[in-house]
Amino acid sequence: MAMQLHDAVVLLVSIVGFFSLLKPVIGFFNWVWVVFLRRPKNLKKYGSWAVVTGSTDGIGKALAFELASKGLNLLLVGRNPSKLESTSGEIRGLYGTGVEIRTVVLDLGKSSGEEISREIGDAIEGLDVGILINNAGVAYPYSMFFHEADSELNQSIVQVNAEAATWVTRAVLPVMLKKKKGAIVNIGSASGSVPSYPLNAIYAATKAYLTMFSRSISVEYKKNGIDIQCQIPFFVATKMAKIRKSSFLIPSPEIYSKASIRHIGYEPVCIPNCSHSLLWAVIHALPVTVFDHYLFNYNLGLRKRALAKYSIKAKVK
Ligand SMILES: NC(=O)c1ccc[n+]([C@@H]2O[C@H](COP(=O)([O-])OP(=O)(O)OC[C@H]3O[C@@H](n4cnc5c(N)ncnc54)[C@H](OP(=O)(O)O)[C@@H]3O)[C@@H](O)[C@H]2O)c1
Ligand SMILES: *[C@@H]1O[C@H](CO)[C@@H](O)[C@H](O)[C@H]1NC(C)=O
Ligand SMILES: *[C@@H]1O[C@H](CO)[C@@H](O)[C@H](O)[C@H]1NC(C)=O
Repeated sequence: MAMQLHDAVVLLVSIVGFFSLLKPVIGFFNWVWVVFLRRPKNLKKYGSWAVVTGSTDGIGKALAFELASKGLNLLLVGRNPSKLESTSGEIRGLYGTGVEIRTVVLDLGKSSGEEISREIGDAIEGLDVGILINNAGVAYPYSMFFHEADSELNQSIVQVNAEAATWVTRAVLPVMLKKKKGAIVNIGSASGSVPSYPLNAIYAATKAYLTMFSRSISVEYKKNGIDIQCQIPFFVATKMAKIRKSSFLIPSPEIYSKASIRHIGYEPVCIPNCSHSLLWAVIHALPVTVFDHYLFNYNLGLRKRALAKYSIKAKVK
């Protein structure tokens, strides 16, 4: 009798142990598959046009080049006419008449939801839009406490990162609903999915908004053939991140965008770059209090350096 109970306990513990080990093992192999092996979707199947916001620099610009290389026509949305011109010129220079490019000059931080819907709606009229990438974003000029972010700064971060992405999506969705096909990618940020992002609170909160917004509408429109996704980058070497050189943990926008487009149409939330997945695993293995303490101090350091730099500049002026 005692022996039988002992056996049953051993069996039970073994089963529980087996399954709790199985989960991370399956997770690991699935990650290898997703990041390195899985075939990307044929993006032209969604339609012949891709809309990219914030396509004049950094990740958005690199994504525009990647999409053009797949033969997609581009509708580039940006606030700076000359940067839009030079970006389209560069892409035309590479792909010639193979891709058609149109541009929309629109300051997403200064336009109301209504204006955005109208401008984008007019620009896509008659176009077979298959892909939308909401990439435009603004971050803090430097790490600051919440009460220091003046309302103008707060307004533009909330407007560009959250509101504009919402209204551009609203404008493009009907085209996709009609043809029952489409892919929408919102470029979120790890800052919105880590335990905290002190000294960048409003920015991180807008990115958390994008994650939840994407997850929810991806469920709503799955049956309509529309694949909606939030991508979560960690650092990428762009002007926003104030990082010029790529490194092991920080891809260039070109490298990031190659991984990015391999994921379009798949998971509702994903981390396209493998170095970023590694960071994710480390962060989520840490106790939250340790992470909070470390990041707060790290950002305080960045803030101190930025303030010193700004005051030096002010003295020169
Ligand atoms: N770099 C990173 O480490 C990192 C990490 C996580 C997430 N992200 C996210 O990735 C996205 C792209 O960032 P990035 O690093 O490539 O930044 P970036 O180099 O500063 O490029 C941002 C793009 O958005 C455009 N934009 C900004 N404000 C706009 C407005 N009011 N109206 C229209 N366009 C506007 C910019 O236009 P201009 O050319 O006129 O400035 C530029 O084309 C953002 O959503 C960002 O939050 C970046
Ligand atoms: C920040 O912006 C949001 C929306 O744009 C607004 O509702 C809020 O009152 C602003 N907060 C501050 C502190 O200015
Ligand atoms: C991710 O970024 C790293 C760092 O720049 C780069 O070496 C690597 O090739 C990228 N990997 C993928 C799968 O995108």
